Amino acid sequence: MRVILRRSGSRPGGMALVAAGAVVLVTACAGGAPKKHAGTAEDPWVIGMSQCNLGEPWRVQMDADVRAAAEKHSNLKVIFKDAQNSSLTQRAQVEEFVDQGVDLLIISPKEAAPLTQPVAAAYQKGIPVIVLDREVQGDQYTQFIGADNVRIGREAGRWIRETLGGQGKIVELEGLMTSTPGQDRHQGFLEGLDLEHNPGLQIVFTGEMKWLEPDARTEMESALATNDHIDLVYAHNDPGAHGAWLAAKAAGREGEMKFVGIDGLPQEGQQYVAQGILDATFLYPTGGDVAIDEALKILGGQQVEKKIVLGTRIFTKDNIQQGGQPITN
Ligand code: FRU
Repeated sequence: MRVILRRSGSRPGGMALVAAGAVVLVTACAGGAPKKHAGTAEDPWVIGMSQCNLGEPWRVQMDADVRAAAEKHSNLKVIFKDAQNSSLTQRAQVEEFVDQGVDLLIISPKEAAPLTQPVAAAYQKGIPVIVLDREVQGDQYTQFIGADNVRIGREAGRWIRETLGGQGKIVELEGLMTSTPGQDRHQGFLEGLDLEHNPGLQIVFTGEMKWLEPDARTEMESALATNDHIDLVYAHNDPGAHGAWLAAKAAGREGEMKFVGIDGLPQEGQQYVAQGILDATFLYPTGGDVAIDEALKILGGQQVEKKIVLGTRIFTKDNIQQGGQPITN
């Protein structure tokens, strides 16, 4: 973990405005920041939800989870924006939300570096910001919510080492390596594999599929062309693992190897495991429901944790009917 768990004030920046004795024409909330809406059914709080893309089922699910949780509260309204996998677009959309005067921002950023500044700018203007799933740099936001990707990668690496009995040729298909889950799932994987003590394990091919199934398919075609034998594919997400499987199937080689992914959506990864396409997937919760719970606390003036770490589960053919198994260590 790079960020230490700690408490933080829920609304930054606002006290200075009040202390300066300026004539504040907007309603001031407990923390002192300008609040644009009352948080009633007549005048609901407005949350801007900035999604980095809606091209993958997992992100569609995240927005659906946010929407379902928000719909239970008549004093909340969520406006969704889709950045269509462009950090530049997402940056502009965050700035639009700020200009439009949202009460709180939820962002699931595409990449850390380009989104750090607009998030910090919003936060410094007194808009609470919840960062979901992928991280930004520094600590200029209210709260981060997400699963521990190093841990998930480590569990995947350990499962792979044990399943292969310390012997085998592995392909790693990486997510976007300018996003923190890609970096963390790689680092954890190496820790779990423990190549130093398991010289029989070999990573024979590494490709960056940037979270996208078509890119995974292309990368896997290269891996197949340059390797006579592959024992297992570890992909940083389920679309990647599925793309690899499609390439192996097209080459008539899908039976030669195992496939491991991450996300574990019921309608995607869990389905693939049930169908025997994937050998394992690890749950990566969207956190959409948690974000709404936390947003309500923040808007209500409560203190919240700086970081909330979500849990994970493993799904294999042996436990899929029982809903997978939680990872507790
Ligand atoms: C969707 C996705 C998921 C992955 C997450 C990582 O865009 O690629 O498949 O788990 O993002 O941030």
